[in-house]
Formats: sequence, C-alpha cells, structure tokens
Amino acid sequence: MSGTAAIERTTAPEAVGDPGWALSQVKDAREKSIAIIGAGASGICLAKYLLEAGLDVTVFEVGTKIGGMWVYENDSGRSSAYKTLHINTAKNLTNYSDFKFGEGVQRFPSHWDMHEYLHAYADRFGVKERIRFRSEVTRVEPLFVPGREEPRWEVETVDGRTWVFDAVCVATGHLTRPLHVPEFRNGFGGEYMHSHTYRTPEPFQGKRVCIVGVGNSAVDIASDMCVITGRCVMVARSGVMIAPKLIFGFPVTDISMKLYRPWIPDKPRRKIIEFMVRLVHGNMEDYGFKPLTRRAHPTTSATIMQDVAYNRVIVKQGIEEIDGRTIRFVDGSSEEFDVLLACTGYLIDLPFLSADLVPIVDNNVELYKRIIPVDWPGLFLIGMVMSTTALNWNYEEQSRWIREFILGNAVLPTRDEMSRDIEKKKAFISEYYKESPRHHIEEEHMYYFMELRKSLRQARRRRFRQRVRGWFGGGSARLAGGRAAGAEAGAE
Ligand SMILES: Cc1cc2nc3c(=O)[nH]c(=O)nc-3n(C[C@H](O)[C@H](O)[C@H](O)COP(=O)(O)OP(=O)(O)OC[C@H]3O[C@@H](n4cnc5c(N)ncnc54)[C@H](O)[C@@H]3O)c2cc1C
Ligand SMILES: NC(=O)c1ccc[n+]([C@@H]2O[C@H](COP(=O)([O-])OP(=O)(O)OC[C@H]3O[C@@H](n4cnc5c(N)ncnc54)[C@H](OP(=O)(O)O)[C@@H]3O)[C@@H](O)[C@H]2O)c1
Repeated sequence: MSGTAAIERTTAPEAVGDPGWALSQVKDAREKSIAIIGAGASGICLAKYLLEAGLDVTVFEVGTKIGGMWVYENDSGRSSAYKTLHINTAKNLTNYSDFKFGEGVQRFPSHWDMHEYLHAYADRFGVKERIRFRSEVTRVEPLFVPGREEPRWEVETVDGRTWVFDAVCVATGHLTRPLHVPEFRNGFGGEYMHSHTYRTPEPFQGKRVCIVGVGNSAVDIASDMCVITGRCVMVARSGVMIAPKLIFGFPVTDISMKLYRPWIPDKPRRKIIEFMVRLVHGNMEDYGFKPLTRRAHPTTSATIMQDVAYNRVIVKQGIEEIDGRTIRFVDGSSEEFDVLLACTGYLIDLPFLSADLVPIVDNNVELYKRIIPVDWPGLFLIGMVMSTTALNWNYEEQSRWIREFILGNAVLPTRDEMSRDIEKKKAFISEYYKESPRHHIEEEHMYYFMELRKSLRQARRRRFRQRVRGWFGGGSARLAGGRAAGAEAGAE
C-alpha cells in the first residue's frame, strides 16, 4: 500500500517543532475501522466513544462475558476477582460520567454489581453487538511502513482468521499475569498460591497461612480468611498507610476527591489525608507496620486494622529465609506454615504484540501519555495505568483523547518531544515513589487528566496549523491527496 501519503510524521528536523503523525486525516471518519481488544471496563468505554463518533468498531473478547476483571469466575480464565471483592471507590465516583449505578446498589459495589453495571453500559450504548466473543487475539502486526504509508494493522485470532484495521486499541488489562517470586513459588515446602487464583476462604479452614504483600489483595484476603484459618500472618515488607473505607460516615474516596483541586498544593493535601487516616486508624507502627516514607499505590480496607488489633492477623516486616515449610522473618522469629499465599501483584502481559512494537521493560511500557507507542501510528493502549481514582474515570479521559487522534482532529508532537515526556514520567516515579514494579505505571489522576487535556489542546492546535498551511498551499499536497488508495480496512 503505497502512495497514500496520509501519515503526518515528518522526517524533517524535529527540533524545529514539526509535528509528529496524525492518524487518517485523509479517510473519512465513517470509513475507518477500529479493533478493540478486550471487552472489560476500558474496552467497552472506548468502544462507546468511538461508536458515537461514527467509527466502525469491532471488539475482540476471549471469553463470553462483558466486564473482564469484574466477572467472578469469568470463563476467559483471566479474572482475579474473589468472592468477597468490592470495588474500593464509591459508586458515585466509579460510574462513567453518563451512566449511573442503580439506586439499590451499595456504596462500594461488589463484583456482581460491577459486572451487571458494565454489561448494562455496553448494552445501553450499542457496544454489545460489536463484540466478537470467544475471539482471543493472538497476533497484531503492522502492514505498513511508519512515516511513509497509511497505518494498516493485521489482527489474528486464535482460530487463524485475520482482519485488517486502520487502528488497533489494546484494552486487555494488566492485572492478570501473576508476579511470582521464585523463592516463594519454588522454595516453600507447603502449598504455594497466588492471589490471582484465590476465590473463597473455606479451603483454608484451620490452616496456617502466610500472606505476602500489603496491597489491596493482601489486606482483603487476610481479612477474608483470618476468622477461619489456624494462623494468619501478613508480611508487609514496605511502609504502608491503610485508609479506611468510611470516615465520618462518608466514603474516603468522596473526601479525598474533594481535596484534589489544582489550587490545593500537594503537600497539604497529603497531610490532611494522613491526618484523617490517623484519626480513624491511629499510628500504623502501633500495629506492626513500617511507616510510609515514600508514595505508594493506596491501600484501603474497612476491616484489616481491626483484624490486626484482634490478633487474627499478625504483621511481619519481611521474610529472611524459607526452609521447607518454615519461614524465618526479619524480626528473627520463625514459624511453620501450610500455605504461602503470594499477594505480590501482577505483571504487564501483551503476548500478541511483538516486543519490537511495544517492549515491556521492568513492568513498564513506554507510551506517550501512557497510551501511544511513539513509533507506531494507529496503535493505542488504554488502561495501562494505575491511578489514585476510579479507573473508569481514567478510561473515559483516555477514550476522549484517543478518539480525537483516530478522527484525525489532533496531531502528535515530534518523536523527541514524546520521548522526553516519557522520560519525565519515569523520573517522577523514581523521585517520589517507593521502588517497586507495582509503581511503574502509577499516575496521580488529577495531574494526569490535566496533562491529557492540555496535550489534546496542543494537538488540536497543531492540526489547525496544518490545515491553515494546507489552505495556503504550504505542504498540503498530502491532505489534498484525497482518500487513501486501496485501504482495505474493515472487520471480516
Ligand atoms: C482484585 C482486583 C481488584 C480491583 N479493584 C479495583 C478497584 O477497586 N477500583 C478500580 O478502579 N480498579 C480496580 N481494579 C483494577 C481493574 O483491573 C480495573 O478496574 C478494570 O477492571 C480494568 O479493566 P480493563 O478493561 O482494562 O481490563 P480487564 O478488566 O482485565 O479486561 C480485559 C479484557 O480483555 C480480554 N482479553 C485479554 N486478552 C485478550 C486477547 N488476547 N484477546 C481478546 N480478549 C482479551 C479479557 O478477557 C478481558 O475481558 C482491581 C483489579 C484487581 C485485580
Ligand atoms: N478491593 C479492591 O478494590 C482491590 C482488591 C485487590 C486489588 N485491587 C487492585 O488491584 C491491583 C493489584 O493489587 P495487589 O494487591 O494484587 O498487588 P500490588 O498492589 O502490586 O501489591 C503487591 C504487594 O506485594 C508486595 N511484594 C511484591 N513482591 C514482594 C516480595 N518479593 N516480597 C515481599 N513482598 C512483595 C508489594 O510490596 P512492595 O510495595 O514492597 O513491592 C506489595 O505490598 C491494585 O491496583 C489494587 O488497588 C483492588
């Protein structure tokens, strides 16, 4: 496919501020076909926004259900949900901006509520009929030369069928492939398990369980099982501040969101939140936890502090050695356990994308604004982020941003500018966050959303300037060139 000349990434000196690529300014929006991989919360949200813009959208989903992670025992085999899982953001924050939860739904929806809600959302906005269920994508490959040809992407499903699209959006989540620690998995003499496969506490009745981690999986699961286990130890190697779910009867997320205002500086905001958590839970160190000295992904629990106070859960600050079933902790004590339950988090996994397209380095993918691989027009990743607010909100912000680039209303900055932006993000994380693979795609939602909006305004201005140059004959030949010849995009 040559001569379509619709790609706007220039080979001219980037230092003078020439814009990077813009997708499909030649094709009419209604002629563009887009693949979305994954029918979870991020994929259906993006599909809704792209369908509204008149795009031809096909969603590929490996299982037979809508909702991804929030479908308990999802037949995709990929959900990490356990029976007692509730979302930790209140429902008024968790809902998409144009679709509320039902009146009867509790303040912190359960996974059943979430599944029902996401299904209803997909139904309401016409996404459901665009989903191809039982369609695992096994390969995504470019069929074009970046910078010289219009993007065309080939998608292959597990049955060997192939399709060609103008753009591919990856919405497959990043919390499915367990992070196994070899010393735990291979070195422990008893039963080893990761939280990804934990569902209910009953199989652990009377057993001595060592839970490793102090993220949300660890605190939820420790509380879930500690009333029936023989012994329940939780290993928190890093400092933590565990927030309650309610403060003065209000969801903690309602309160913290009120404090996220651009005019409230970061330090006082953090101090106020710390103070409120302290009012409810007291000093973390009194419960055996290390204090939080650097930023970390928030942990919240309505119950774990009581469980620790009741000695149902015993806190240890790290593992020194494992010998068979005996675990020696950093405080010098050692105990025998039947089960080591690793709540050690997850690793980003994109098996259908070659590492040449999107390398995963140290549990990070280098994406401009956490969405775009700088060298590959027409490839977008949504949801590749951890955030300080409900992720559905994040998916909406990202979807609006992606939509504008797909429609050709926005033009990216130069490759150098994008790379610098990526480096800045990495530097921010290493300056402020505790070093851990779990933090490499962390974003503070307010600043991230401001960044997305600002970068979109700039990208629209770039597009406007291109148009103006086009009107006055300054390098507009490409845009005037009409429709992309031979574009064979389209589902099936
Ligand atoms: C235990 C747990 C609790 C959580 N709690 C919260 C919370 O309280 N608040 C919050 O905001 N977030 C929470 N999250 C984060 C959660 O992952 C997001 O809220 C959200 O569900 C992610 O949506 P997603 O669509 O990006 O990914 P997923 O929900 O994982 O959906 C991805 C979809 O892609 C499909 N898929 C994957 N690979 C392929 C393929 N190759 N081909 C076709 N289809 C494919 C999967 O089957 C799935 O349906 C939690 C995560 C976990 C693990
Ligand atoms: N109810 C809910 O809403 C809910 C429930 C579960 C999960 N989630 C979400 O799902 C995502 C994943 O959560 P998660 O708790 O499964 O994983 P996580 O947030 O990545 O936490 C992993 C934990 O394991 C620890 N860890 C990792 N390797 C270790 C090692 N070798 N030795 C000791 N400790 C180790 C980490 O400590 P370090 O920090 O020191 O690396 C951290 O405490 C998060 O976004 C979370 O908010 C939400």
